[in-house]
Amino acid sequence: MRHSFAIKCGDNELRPLTECHLEALRKWRNDHQLNKYIRPIGYITREMQTQWYEHYCERDDEIMLCVFRAGELKGAVSLYDICARDAEFGRLMIGGDGRGHGLGSFATWGCAKIAFSSLGLNELRACVTAANVAALRIYVRLGFLIEEMRFNEDIGFDEYVIRLPKNRFELLSGEMGFECL
Ligand SMILES: CC(C)(COP(=O)(O)OP(=O)(O)OC[C@H]1O[C@@H](n2cnc3c(N)ncnc32)[C@H](O)[C@@H]1OP(=O)(O)O)[C@@H](O)C(=O)NCCC(=O)NCCS
Repeated sequence: MRHSFAIKCGDNELRPLTECHLEALRKWRNDHQLNKYIRPIGYITREMQTQWYEHYCERDDEIMLCVFRAGELKGAVSLYDICARDAEFGRLMIGGDGRGHGLGSFATWGCAKIAFSSLGLNELRACVTAANVAALRIYVRLGFLIEEMRFNEDIGFDEYVIRLPKNRFELLSGEMGFECL
């Protein structure tokens, strides 16, 4: 959906996805180094990306946020299947030279903050490939609980089903602010 949710912490920012970000996001989503632990959807052409964006703008159960450092686009993150109480957290991706500088952590924290403080949700759910240690470290540190491990036939890997209750996030990290984590 078109939205105006945004959050800033020092140089790091989450801002709404707009059309001018689509090409960078498409390249990252097509990059095997970045998509090896994510659900395979085949090669995304420019036309497919534009069509996806048009549908995205019309939806009312999904928000995409872009991750910036010092004004430069570095990645994206999303909340989807948004219902009254909960939503799915995912599509976290930090591209190129952005990785390894805490942006994945910031994006997850900021997205959870928006989910609980602005959207009034009570819980986030997610799935993460068991071998994706970088993502798991971020999620567990911010308070996500591991519910179960199962085999995902689409990606051919074991994955964890995880969830983050609002009160747990706020107790552990939400109220402190990202810089204090
Ligand atoms: C997962 C991802 C978002 C992390 O982004 P990032 O900006 O590099 O993350 P951060 O710098 O905030 O932190 C990553 C943590 O994982 C650790 N890490 C990174 N690579 C690792 C690896 N191969 N093995 C173990 N730990 C690793 C880092 O040391 C850091 O932990 P620390 O803060 O305790 O040192 C990024 O690697 C990415 O886009 N991956 C591809 C897409 C993806 O898998 N998305 C998640 C889908 S669930």
